[in-house]
Amino acid sequence: MSTHYTQLGLVNTRAMFDKAVDGGYAIPAYNFNNMEQLQAIIMACVEEDSPVILQVSSGARKYANQTLLRYMAQGAVEYAAELGNPIPICLHLDHGDTFELCKSCIDMGFSSVMIDGSQHPYEKNVELTAQVVEYAHKFDVTVEGELGVLAGIEDDVQAEKHVYTQPDEVEDFVKKTGVDSLAISIGTSHGAFKFKPGTDPKIRLDILHEIEKRIPRFPIVLHGSSSVPQDIVAEINQFGGKLKDAIGISEEQLRLATKSAVCKINIDSDGRLAMTGAIRRVFVEKPAEFDPRKYLGPARQALKDLYKHKCRTVLGSAGHAKD
Ligand code: G3H
Ligand code: 13P
Ligand code: ZN
Repeated sequence: MSTHYTQLGLVNTRAMFDKAVDGGYAIPAYNFNNMEQLQAIIMACVEEDSPVILQVSSGARKYANQTLLRYMAQGAVEYAAELGNPIPICLHLDHGDTFELCKSCIDMGFSSVMIDGSQHPYEKNVELTAQVVEYAHKFDVTVEGELGVLAGIEDDVQAEKHVYTQPDEVEDFVKKTGVDSLAISIGTSHGAFKFKPGTDPKIRLDILHEIEKRIPRFPIVLHGSSSVPQDIVAEINQFGGKLKDAIGISEEQLRLATKSAVCKINIDSDGRLAMTGAIRRVFVEKPAEFDPRKYLGPARQALKDLYKHKCRTVLGSAGHAKD
């Protein structure tokens, strides 16, 4: 039996993106795999009055079980209302790689899916993306496609180098597939090691602007947008971690991107770092603790602080839940 996302109180991305493009801000897309991450996301976005996209990757599905995650997202809708602010919440499949996976998520209540055909040749990417769009739109589920390849690791797929999105392809891709938003490759990458030490990390805002000229106001998505806060990296290393040369996208670059048609910014690694730093600290400072709540609690607080900061001072989504 299938469930439509509206029965769960979720929303798709259409209205969110329209408002974000007009308002010059980006919707946070935070990945979650467990309860503490989800609680932190919801508490932060409720307090900051921000719309939010909850992202589930294939890895998250394998780790936590798709059905459990779906029910958790449904619970998140009620939790936000209970906290006194029923913010718009979207449940999104991150980096779906097959039609079957996207269909399965749509059928069980996801309100948005990404079909990532970026590893395929252009024509195959168009064909696969169009197939997902055709199915998803029957249920008013929104679809994100991708053109160009990000360097780094996406699930089990590793790309050595960026293949930047070619501005000349975007109009044709959007027209042929009918996608609702487009993830592009302009120098961001997944994980905590995005740039070589000693370089001046910059993303290709020039390519972004070329893309915007070809498809004005069309919703653009940035993956791999963690900033890898250096105070958190230092905390991890201070308490026994070994993260050498972890470098991310500067908050300033992200702020600039939000002023364009970039209306969804994906952040996962920063949350992983924040949790790890907080847990390592407890393990070192209070080695006698063995109640998981005593280290997952501080981890949840660190995550919440991080997400609040992102909404308020990086993405600019704070205060836009009721636009
Ligand atoms: O883009 C990748 C996301 O950070 C999800 O990572 O596949 O390890 O869950 P994951
Ligand atoms: P980060 O690894 O930079 O957090 O990117 C996450 C992402 O793009 C999820 O799709
Ligand atoms: Zn991604």
